[in-house]
Amino acid sequence: MMTVKPISAQRLPALLARMPKAELHMHIEGSLEPELMFALAARNGLQVPYADVETLRRAYVFGNLQEFLDIYHAGTLVLRSEQDFYDMTWAYLQRAAADHVLHTEIFFDTQTHTGHGLSADTVLNGLHRACVDAKTQLGISASLILCFLRHLSEAEAFEALEQAMPHLDKLVGIGLASSEVGHPPEKFARVFAKARGLGLRLVAHAGEEGPPAYIWSALDVLKVERIDHGVQSMKDSALVARLKQARIPLTVCPLSNLKLRVFPSLAQHNLGAMLDAGLMATVNSDDPAYFGGYVNDNFTQTFAALGLTAQHAWQLAYNSFEASFIDVSAKRAYQAQLAELFETFE
Ligand code: HPA
Ligand code: ZN
Repeated sequence: MMTVKPISAQRLPALLARMPKAELHMHIEGSLEPELMFALAARNGLQVPYADVETLRRAYVFGNLQEFLDIYHAGTLVLRSEQDFYDMTWAYLQRAAADHVLHTEIFFDTQTHTGHGLSADTVLNGLHRACVDAKTQLGISASLILCFLRHLSEAEAFEALEQAMPHLDKLVGIGLASSEVGHPPEKFARVFAKARGLGLRLVAHAGEEGPPAYIWSALDVLKVERIDHGVQSMKDSALVARLKQARIPLTVCPLSNLKLRVFPSLAQHNLGAMLDAGLMATVNSDDPAYFGGYVNDNFTQTFAALGLTAQHAWQLAYNSFEASFIDVSAKRAYQAQLAELFETFE
């Protein structure tokens, strides 16, 4: 571990903004800003059921995950063509580059869109083309993680995997998203095993609203390598010991947790406690268009609320590369850039 020189509270936001980082938990459909939603609706001859951008933004008040998922799903109805998926992804990648994200692993779900009559090919081709352009035009690497929707059946997850088979080379892994409580991981054991056999990396949302038991089964039944959210792990000391010992990364999303009322305020968030417990936590934006900020907003607001330091900043950014699915030489190169910034930053 690198010991970081102290940085004043006034300079900390600039350091957080400037530091190289990876983003590992961001649903591309959740990056669709109201402005682009209205533009895509117009292009596709569709109506958004809100008067204007401001009225829509004011509707983004949620009591829990399900209330969010209902509005998020309604927003995806404007996505119809490959170009729509490209434009949404490109907009996110530009925002990510501005936040000094050097690598991002983007979640998407095909089942939402095939449910609206689109083909998985339309989704995957649009997303992938934007990721390719990001490398050449923005200098950032982006890979794709297909999330199954856990409120749907095992058979539907197998079908989604089957439809993605022609695009295996465009995927780094699979995940599990949507309504958590009442939908434990076990139903997806066989489809995760199949994906693993195909060489895909495995992650799952667990312990966002759901109990520590769902994190245990994501690890032991699905055999995931990372836990998305995982904030409920702190209620189970044996689980904390397991996550620490096995160095399982947790992709924490503080503004999401705030907006979905997982914590009553950011000052009550357990990110600092997770780091103090030796967990490999990272900071991510989840659904930035809906939760009030991109990854740097998550860093700056959470650091201010919790009084976190430059040492925590370095640890979180280091973890983000360590927890990513890039090869070890790329991890070390990014971590060296991170160290260099912390050595030279005034
Ligand atoms: N949790 C679960 N599923 C999701 C989320 C989330 O925060 N965002 C998009 N799908
Ligand atoms: Zn998520």
